[in-house]
Amino acid sequence: MASEDKSDLRSPEDRGTTHSSADELLHVAGLGRKFGGLTALADYDVDLRSGELLGIIGPNGAGKTTLFNVLTGLVPPSSGEVRFCGKDQTGAAPQRLAEVGMARTFQNIRNFASLSVIDNVKVALQLHESVPLWQTIVGTRRYRADQARIHDRAVDLLELLQLDQARDHRADGLPYGAQRRLEIACALALSPKLLLLDEPAAGMNPTETLELMHLIRRVHEEFKLTIMLIEHNVHFIMTICHRIQVLNYGRVIAEGEPAYIRKHPAVIEAYLGHGASDA
Ligand SMILES: Nc1ncnc2c1ncn2[C@@H]1O[C@H](COP(=O)(O)OP(=O)(O)OP(=O)(O)O)[C@@H](O)[C@H]1O
Ligand SMILES: [Mg+2]
Repeated sequence: MASEDKSDLRSPEDRGTTHSSADELLHVAGLGRKFGGLTALADYDVDLRSGELLGIIGPNGAGKTTLFNVLTGLVPPSSGEVRFCGKDQTGAAPQRLAEVGMARTFQNIRNFASLSVIDNVKVALQLHESVPLWQTIVGTRRYRADQARIHDRAVDLLELLQLDQARDHRADGLPYGAQRRLEIACALALSPKLLLLDEPAAGMNPTETLELMHLIRRVHEEFKLTIMLIEHNVHFIMTICHRIQVLNYGRVIAEGEPAYIRKHPAVIEAYLGHGASDA
């Protein structure tokens, strides 16, 4: 696969499409990551326009989370380049990437378990706003105004994510689906340009999953966000994504619009299983 012409992986609609650099948010070329002798990610390319919703699917161990870890600076790449908002960010640290507008959620939820729901969001907002420590200690008028604004913003985000009724509960006391929504609220608190969601519907029941699908659509529109979404729920990803990449053994084996991916023989073979094209 490595030496093949990669344009063949894309659907006919996508082939030959060139995006102006003005609306290019993310450009990734030849990204790779090895762990010892294991190639978790290889020759990964993507060009993401502002406002796009890109889905990533693939079997367990295909390299999906590794891709997010490399993009968000948690794991340095073994090869390749990452350009975000027109600047080279290859190998940049997570904090730096968060500052320039990348936010993510994790496959294993990482909220502050013992903090209340609203305090989780406030911590994220404070991080984003970098309130100076001396203001926190001295409690200036400016600090109090900042705190009031942060509180109002946190309340808005909790309402959007349907968590306002639970705002004073401990994060670890929330039902699983609500914990996942809290993680999204915290990511949105960073006012990202690019939001990376790693299996946001994992562990949710069908009703919660459907609600989350509507919520992601709403967040995508209201925040004018660009989203990369890893998800095993095929209906979910096919419904909301504009474009889908399929990873297998660390490589993109197909890329295109949902209708194209649904019928792609290599995808059915590797991931969707027989009968998926009828789904
Ligand atoms: N820190 C690490 N050290 C060693 N190997 C790793 C590390 N992180 C991931 N891997 C390996 O890289 C491969 C890809 O893992 P990754 O977690 O990216 O897969 P995934 O597509 O997210 O799978 P899943 O659908 O199960 O979440 C796997 O073989 C995994 O064991
Ligand atoms: Mg994963």
